Amino acid sequence: MTHPIPVRRLLFESMPAEEFKPDCVAANPVLSYTCWGVSMYVTFLEPFIVKSMHRIMDDIKDDDLRENVDRFARQEAQHYQQHQRFNEALFAQGYPGLNERYEILRQDFDRMLEEESDKYCVGFVEGFESYTTQGAIAVFKTGIMNHPETDPRVADLFNWHLMEEIEHRTVAFDIYDHLYGDYLYRVKMCLIAQGHITRFIMDCTRIMSAYDVERFGKKYQISLPVRMFNQIGRVILTTRSCLPWYTPHRYVVPEGVESVSKHYSDIAQSVS
Ligand SMILES: [Fe+2]
Ligand SMILES: [Fe+2]
Repeated sequence: MTHPIPVRRLLFESMPAEEFKPDCVAANPVLSYTCWGVSMYVTFLEPFIVKSMHRIMDDIKDDDLRENVDRFARQEAQHYQQHQRFNEALFAQGYPGLNERYEILRQDFDRMLEEESDKYCVGFVEGFESYTTQGAIAVFKTGIMNHPETDPRVADLFNWHLMEEIEHRTVAFDIYDHLYGDYLYRVKMCLIAQGHITRFIMDCTRIMSAYDVERFGKKYQISLPVRMFNQIGRVILTTRSCLPWYTPHRYVVPEGVESVSKHYSDIAQSVS
């Protein structure tokens, strides 16, 4: 029987630079900038997850949890490699200031690995996962990746990635609980990790929007009400992940995730 956290190897069709569309998700600039921001963020975050998990592997006293952590890390290792390839079309656009912001992100994660404790790193990973699991579930519930104006290559990459985020949704929470179980510190790390990705996505949105307004017109301007609406959404996700009774074990997996999971296992080059 297949493990509930299967490690799939796949190769996705990348987007040629000349086919890049800044509104590739549902023809909606703000959703698209968020996805491109996530696509950049994970190329440093996910190697950080892999390294953070390797650092604590020998401290895990439970065999099942150790296997889940190993599978979690191996799923994340697949994700960032695919996003790195995919982001080439984005970086080829020459957005002024984007490379510099991306470099700051790289330095942030390098610094954390160098200077911070295992508890901080595992807490950061859990803070991130408790945020993005909610985002992944929302994407499946709203069906934005299946919107007729979502680029099929973007949809393919994100459907696979977000489905696997749902598959491994409990692991970071369980490992933090197993090793530390310190609720207040977990809240602090949710605020740090979620604030970190939010700032990055807001900066990327600002950078990309400014250049696209110049190139393609006002459609790409992000209005104050839209920005405020997004901010309220983020506050709701953060609040939910910080509640004392928060647990990813109670999530109801949206309908359709199981068939997406089966689809990617069927077309994978290998599954272990
Ligand atoms: Fe991931
Ligand atoms: Fe993840």
